[in-house]
Formats: sequence, C-alpha cells, structure tokens
Amino acid sequence: MERAVGRIALFGLLLALVTTLPNKDDWDIYSFHINSTVTSRYATTVITSRVANRMDESKEIEFQVRIPKNAFISKFKMLIDGQEYDGVVKPKEQAQQQYTEAVSLGQSAGIVSSVGRTLEEFKTSVTVAAHKKVTFELTYEELLKRRHGKYELQIHARPMQPVKDFKVDVNINEEAGINFIEVKGGLSTKALANAITKTHADKQAWVYFYPTEDQQKTCDSCSDQGMNGDLVIVYDVNRDTSFGDIKKSAGYFVHHFAPSNLPRIPKNVVFVIDQSGSMSGRKIVQTRMALIHILSDLAEDDFFGLISFDSQLFHWKRELVQATGANLESARTFARNIRDRGATNINEAVLEGARMLNAHPREGSASILILLTDGDPTTGVTNLGQIQANVKGAIKGKFPLYCLGFGFDVNFEFLEKMSLQNDGVARRIYEDSDANLQLKGFYEEVATPLLTDVTMIYLGGTNLTQTNFSQYYNGSEIVVAGQITDNNIETFTPQVVAISNNKRLVFSDTNTTTVSTGTIADHHMPRVWAYLTVKQLLEKELLVSGPEKKSVTEEALRLSLKYNFVTPLTSMVVTKPLGETTDVLHKPKEGETPPDMSAYDLPTKHHSPPMHSGWGSSGRMFSTAYLRPDFGSVGVGAGVIAGAGAGAGAGARGGGGGVGQGTHHNRHRLSGRLRSSSRKVKVHSVQVDFLEEAADYDYTAFLLPVLPRILPTIVPAHSNQAHRFLIKPENQSLPLCFDVTGNTRLKLLHHPNRELSVNGRLDSTLRGGFKKIVIHSKTDQHIEIETTAITVREGQTETRHTGQDLITVGSVTVIKRDKEIDVAAGDTRLLILIHNRGQKEFLWPVLRQLPSDPSATGILALKPAVYEEVQQTPSTKLQINNQEIDVTRSTAVDYSIESTPTLDCWLMSAESALQGSLGDFTVTQL
Ligand SMILES: *[C@@H]1O[C@H](CO)[C@@H](O)[C@H](O)[C@H]1NC(C)=O
Ligand SMILES: *[C@@H]1O[C@H](CO)[C@@H](O)[C@H](O)[C@H]1NC(C)=O
Ligand SMILES: *[C@@H]1O[C@H](CO)[C@@H](O)[C@H](O)[C@H]1NC(C)=O
Ligand SMILES: *[C@@H]1O[C@H](CO)[C@@H](O)[C@H](O)[C@H]1NC(C)=O
Ligand SMILES: *[C@@H]1O[C@H](CO)[C@@H](O)[C@H](O)[C@H]1NC(C)=O
Ligand SMILES: *[C@@H]1O[C@H](CO)[C@@H](O)[C@H](O)[C@H]1NC(C)=O
Repeated sequence: MERAVGRIALFGLLLALVTTLPNKDDWDIYSFHINSTVTSRYATTVITSRVANRMDESKEIEFQVRIPKNAFISKFKMLIDGQEYDGVVKPKEQAQQQYTEAVSLGQSAGIVSSVGRTLEEFKTSVTVAAHKKVTFELTYEELLKRRHGKYELQIHARPMQPVKDFKVDVNINEEAGINFIEVKGGLSTKALANAITKTHADKQAWVYFYPTEDQQKTCDSCSDQGMNGDLVIVYDVNRDTSFGDIKKSAGYFVHHFAPSNLPRIPKNVVFVIDQSGSMSGRKIVQTRMALIHILSDLAEDDFFGLISFDSQLFHWKRELVQATGANLESARTFARNIRDRGATNINEAVLEGARMLNAHPREGSASILILLTDGDPTTGVTNLGQIQANVKGAIKGKFPLYCLGFGFDVNFEFLEKMSLQNDGVARRIYEDSDANLQLKGFYEEVATPLLTDVTMIYLGGTNLTQTNFSQYYNGSEIVVAGQITDNNIETFTPQVVAISNNKRLVFSDTNTTTVSTGTIADHHMPRVWAYLTVKQLLEKELLVSGPEKKSVTEEALRLSLKYNFVTPLTSMVVTKPLGETTDVLHKPKEGETPPDMSAYDLPTKHHSPPMHSGWGSSGRMFSTAYLRPDFGSVGVGAGVIAGAGAGAGAGARGGGGGVGQGTHHNRHRLSGRLRSSSRKVKVHSVQVDFLEEAADYDYTAFLLPVLPRILPTIVPAHSNQAHRFLIKPENQSLPLCFDVTGNTRLKLLHHPNRELSVNGRLDSTLRGGFKKIVIHSKTDQHIEIETTAITVREGQTETRHTGQDLITVGSVTVIKRDKEIDVAAGDTRLLILIHNRGQKEFLWPVLRQLPSDPSATGILALKPAVYEEVQQTPSTKLQINNQEIDVTRSTAVDYSIESTPTLDCWLMSAESALQGSLGDFTVTQL
C-alpha cells in the first residue's frame, strides 16, 4: 500500500515540475561571484549570490550550490534588509536538537547532500519581502591534494539562471613558483572559452571567468536556466629541491614534500579481483579492460601476482613472478577470462594475496596489495571485524593495502577501515562508462614508488599531523603540518628520512631553497594545520575504540568548533528572520548507509542506477552519486514546502533526523507537498534534481525536452552607437571599415612571448573611442589608462598619476603628455591619442612599432587588408581570401592621426573585415 502511495506522489511531483518552470521574473539573481584564493595549496572559496525578489509579494528564495566533498564549509551568512544572519557551527547533537524541534514545529531542515563523485550540495532558503534583496555568502576551505603530478581546484557553477553579473575569480599564490596552469572542465569549452582569462606569473596566477548572459545560455552544458558545470584549475608548483617547500608562520608550519628527481623502485604488486555474481555485466568487462591495461604498464623489474575470487580462489600463478613479456601475456589471457560467478570470499582472497607478498620479500622493493570488490563478504569468514583482524595480522604493517570499492553495494566503511589499518586508502570506483579509467587512474597513482618507510622528523615541532608514511609515489605529495614549540624558529629543524633503492636517504633543509617565513596571507597556516588534523582524526576515529575513540572524537570536535568547520561531527545552524524556519546543515559521510527507500519501489541491486555524476549527452548534470541520500534530500527539500504549508504533523515522525533518518519525514512530506499546492515556486529546483535522478530510473518519459541552443551571432552594427574601425589597405586606395557596437572590450594587442597584453573598452556614449585601455605586463603589473589618469597596480599596491609624468613599471615605460600617452615595452611602441568629441574625451591606440612576431594577436596586430573588387553592379563585392563579400561605400574618421581626417571606406561586417569572429578580438575582462 505504501508503495503505491510513494509512486503516486513521485508521479505527481514530476507532473508538477512540467507546469512550474522557473520564472526569472519571480526572483532574479543579479549577481553571482565565486572568489577562490589558493595559498600554498590551501583554497578558500567564497560564493556570493545576490538575489532580488521582483514580485509584489514575499517569496521564498533559494540558495543552492555545489562544493567539493573534500572541503569544509566554514562560514555562511545571509544579508536581508541590512540585517545579517550568520550560520553557527554546533556539535551535531546540539544541532540535532534544534533540528528536531524545528521539524516538530513543522519547520524545515536544510541539508548538505552528496552529489556525484566529488561534490556536495548546500541548500537553504529564506523568505524575502516584495521588492527586497538578499545576499547569500558561503565560504569553504580545502587543502588541494596532489595526484598524477598536479593539483586540481574544482569550481562548480550552477546559478540556476543566467546572471547579469557573473564572475569567477581565482588567485593562486605559490612561494615555490607555479610550474604550469591550465583551465579545464565543461565550462572551459566552446563559447565559454572566450570568457576565461588566465594570467600566469612566477609565483602567482589568476584565472578570471566572466561569461556574459548570452554565453551563459548558449554553451554546451547551458540552457535557458544558465550554466551548469565545472571549471577546473589544474596546476603544479616548481620542485627544484628534493626537500620541498616548508612554510612557517605564527607558530605553525606546513611542509609539502614531493621529490620527483629520484629513481623508481621496483614493486611487488598483487591484484585481488572480485568476480562474484554481482560483478556481472559492465563491471566485469571494465575490470578486465583496466587490468589488461595495468598489466601492460608494469615495468620489467616489477613482480606481480593475480588472484580472482568468488567463493573460491583462482590463481594465475601461486607465487609472484617477474613482469617479463611472456608472463604478462599469460596474465593478460588470464585476465581476459575472468568471469563473474559465485559468492564473495573477501577474507580468504586478501589473506592469500598477503601470503604471496610475504613469501616474496625483496630488498629494495615496494610491495603493494590491491583489492577490488563490489560487495560485502558473503561466504567464508563474513564477520567484518574478524576479517579486518585477520588481514591486519597477515600484513603486519609490511605493505599497504588499497581497497577499491566498485559501486554502491559495498560496505565502504569496512573497506576504508581495512585500508587505513594497513597504511593504505580506500577509493570508490563509480559505476559508469569510465570505470576502467578510474581503476587505471588509481593504479597510476601508486605505479611509481620512489621511497619507502618515509619518516618526517621535526625537532622543535609539536602537535604534528601524520609523520610516517609507508610509501611515497611519484606524482603525489606528503603534507605535514604542526606547531613550532614556543614559535622558536631557530631551533626548529625539519628532516626526512626514507629508503630509496636500498639506500637510506636523509633530506634536510640544507637541500632546499624554498623556506619562507611570514609572507602574504599567513593567517591561514593554523587553518591548514587544523584542516589536516581534523581529517586525520576523523580517519583515526574509524580505527580505534573505547576511551581512545572518545578522546579522538572529542579532539576532532573541539577543533571543528574552534575553526568553524562543518565536518561529520558538527552541523551548521542557519538562523533566519523571526518566524522563519531554521536550517541545520549536516555534512554527509562518504559511503553513509543509504536510508530505506523501499517505499519508493526503487530498483534494487540488479538494476542499480549508474552511480555517477557527469555530463549526460544532453549536457545536463545528472547528479547521482549517492543516489539514495540524494533522493532523501529531495524529500527534505520538498518538506520545506510542506512544512511551511501543510504543517505540524510532519514532525511527529521526524525523531532523529540526519541524512539517514530523514527519509521518514521525506516520505510523509512528499505526499504532503501535493496537498499544499500554494507554494509551487520553491519546489522547482528540488524537482529538477529529482528529475535528473529520475532519468536514471527509467522515468525518462517525463524528462523535459532538451531546449534548443541559441547560437551566438553578432548583429551587424547599424546603430549610431557604433564605433567605426578602419583597416588600411595594402595596395588599393580605399581602406576597409567595420562597426563594433556597445561597450565592447576589445583585445588590442596580445603578445604571448613578451607577456604583454593591451585591452581596451569602448564606450557607447563616446561614439568613437575607448574609455579605458589597460596594459598587462609580466602579469602582476597592470597599467590602466584613462583620459584623466593612469593607474598602476602591482600586486596589492595601486598608484594613480594624473599630471604629465614618466612612469616605469617593470619593463614598460609610459610617458604621459598633454594629448597623448607613449607606451614602450621592449621593441613594441604604442601611442595612445586623447581625442575630444563635444565635451567628451576618449582614447585611441595606434601601434607605432611591433617586432615581427607572428604570435601577436589583437585588433592592432591586424595585417593590412588585401582585397580585390570583383563586382560593381548591382552592388559592390570585394573578394577577400577567395570569399565574395558585399560592401557599401561609406566614410570613417581616422583617429590614428591627430587631425582626425574623414576617409572613404568599404563598409562590411566585422567578421568579414576581421576574417574571423569578433569574439576572437574581445576579452571578458580588461
Ligand atoms: C577575493 O578574495 C580575496 C581574499 O579574501 C580578496 O583579497 C579579493 O579582493 C577578492 N577578489 C574579488 C574579486 O572579490
Ligand atoms: C616522476 O614524475 C616526473 C614528472 O611528473 C617525471 O619527470 C619523472 O621522470 C618521474 N620519475 C620516475 C622515476 O618515473
Ligand atoms: C614513525 O617511524 C619511526 C621510525 O620508523 C618510529 O620510531 C616512530 O615510532 C613512528 N611513529 C609513529 C607515530 O608511528
Ligand atoms: C598542542 O595542542 C594542545 C591541544 O590539543 C595544546 O594544549 C597545546 O598547547 C599544543 N601544543 C603546543 C606546543 O602548542
Ligand atoms: C641533503 O644535504 C645533506 C647535507 O647538506 C646531505 O647529507 C644529504 O645527502 C642531502 N640529501 C639529499 C636527498 O640530497
Ligand atoms: C601589392 O603591391 C606590390 C607592389 O606594388 C606587389 O608586389 C604585391 O604583390 C601587391 N600585393 C597584392 C596582394 O596584390
């Protein structure tokens, strides 16, 4: 019976969605900024969303963003009508009480829920009076982890509507120097690529992403509802020294250790592969593919073993053998023939893997045990604690065990605990088309051991994070933070001792050049320490029991509260204006047991939905990862409405709450929602999520049609707000001319080799000129030229020059005279004329000298036009680059000469004149 109700309720929601498309007239996100500052790999990101209620009545306005799972939220506030409402981090139990009370009063609970592989969703809402505004501000922090030789900062943008003032600003500061920086992710492609500006100096880099409203609608993963996707900033730092990068400040230190100039050490690796019945289908196919690839990557001096298991074990060979060509070929044949069948005997399989490694001790090598499974142990020893004890007893700390949990039917906590007990880590492999790449990617992280038995020693250091590491792999990084006893930097002596190829290596800060003390933004050092300490305490909490567990938990809680981190031990209580609901935000744990969803008649194990978050072919995000809790969050979200509308009864079943127990009220509220139809507006975003889920559940029939894409087009300029540009001809007598409308920001001259770029902004009110021209050189020097002043920005300092002046900024010289500004940078010379038109002054740049460099781009670097007149009647056509172009005879003022003569010209569209899109000559930021 309950099943039927659940179904009907869901069906109703889906239909409701179709009729309640979002309406930008209701509320308008007029500004959405994401500002991420990374200092020594520690990223602090602030998301600020400003929303206006455009209605004549009060509206519930929602704030919903996605942040990396690895991050801790550290601040949240709302600003309504001059009043600030701050989120407060509280111990979970206390917050829980508040939550329960709120629920019993028929109020709502906000939630942070897991979406996809790497993201969590933060959601809250507030009622805003007619024509009032609200500002939401969320801050989160994370230590970027080095994998495969790079750091990745993931920024998810999904404002739910196109936003007039949308900005992402990323600023990276790395003392060691930035080796490379790239911008990836769905939002860096196609139409949006033009909206990205990347500047890379030695120790700093900036990435600006300022898409226009149109760009936000027309990119690949965008729709009428705006962007939905990631911007991923990928970078690495210089590593000239083996000892790494150690920063000290305010009594704290953080040491990044990642030597790469070491020889690899041979490894002994045993793969233990689950082939139980549940692996059938795509999983087993992908596992075979990954294994075959991985085997091909083994080096000749590696030794390896391969076991597949279900209720029985199948050896390829009973002992480890060398990775010779013949052995690898035979192992690949074995891998190709792995078939799914039978039950899951994890205990026996892992013990056998450990036996094989123990039977093969090799001096100067690194041993690794890798388990891949997709389910719980079902045969042999099935008591989880017993298996863990057996495995720990067999491995005895001699090598790390890595557990890969395939899909969501695994008990991830069990695998995680077993890995941590044996110096390894557990990783979830998401069931998806790229599962084989995930497996391979994981293997590559551990493929090249460089050091074993790494001991990080800090004399004069205290309260250290983890200092012993069984192995160090190329492309990864060891990070240790701690406090410096009495802040005594003189006696503080760091040292690393490790084994490389049978040799004991000692690294000390005599091998380093990057020891920095007290530079910019050092206030974050204690936070890095706290972040790492809390993360590690949360892991340790898994491993210990009794009084020790209690003290570990207490310490983690104490630090979470002190540093305002929303961790699995704390929650954030968001208080709102009087009379409104209180939101309680919990951080979900990875692999948290899904709530009982049977009432919804969801497919069971056999048609498990793809647990993946990614881009569907339609370009829409289908959030999913942890499908069931997500689903739960849908319910909770929907409950907000029911709570406000349909009232109190809901709380009665509420009881405990939290992600797990949330479902009970969800269920109630989903149907409650249907009865309370008066507040449809708010449901919308909740429903979208749900729909996305639903797609995975064969409810595709209800999906909205994919919206047609609007291709960016450039409207030819006919308005009198146009600025007319001339292109000088090479041989012919008449120049070409074209118009650019509006306040366009033009790329004037970009000189990649010399790191010089000049951009200018047109001003439609000036009808013919530039309001501002900005010169960027060597990245952290910016010269802004306006008719009245020149402003120089270098890092944080800003100087303004108004009179006649000679300004030297790095390699750039700027001479300001009465009616012109002379700019010289290396062999490049630029003259910026100041013209008058009516009462208004504007700028016009003229290139005087450019070293022959084919890589220079921009309007000023355009070559003289080469064309032929091919037709005169009935209309004139010119041939340019084998293309016939319609033109009309017109006139243009030549501002490159002080006397501004008016010339005849052939008028054509900007694209024809530029032989490319105008977009190639614009920038999103000056
Ligand atoms: C971004 O945040 C940093 C650090 O709080 C601040 O210095 C900077 O001005 C912010 N940038 C923008 C564009 O708001
Ligand atoms: C470690 O990685 C670096 C760069 O990623 C590479 O240059 C080096 O050759 C690698 N070392 C080994 C032993 O593979
Ligand atoms: C780290 O390793 C060193 C030497 O191998 C050992 O003396 C020390 O007790 C270990 N520390 C911890 C916390 O395990
Ligand atoms: C280490 O942390 C403890 C609290 O966990 C604190 O009492 C102690 O002062 C810290 N040690 C130092 C040297 O700061
Ligand atoms: C670091 O320098 C010390 C002496 O300054 C030297 O003994 C040691 O071998 C060096 N370590 C490495 C890894 O180069
Ligand atoms: C332009 O004129 C020069 C000499 O007057 C000639 O060499 C060149 O080929 C001409 N260019 C074109 C594109 O006709």
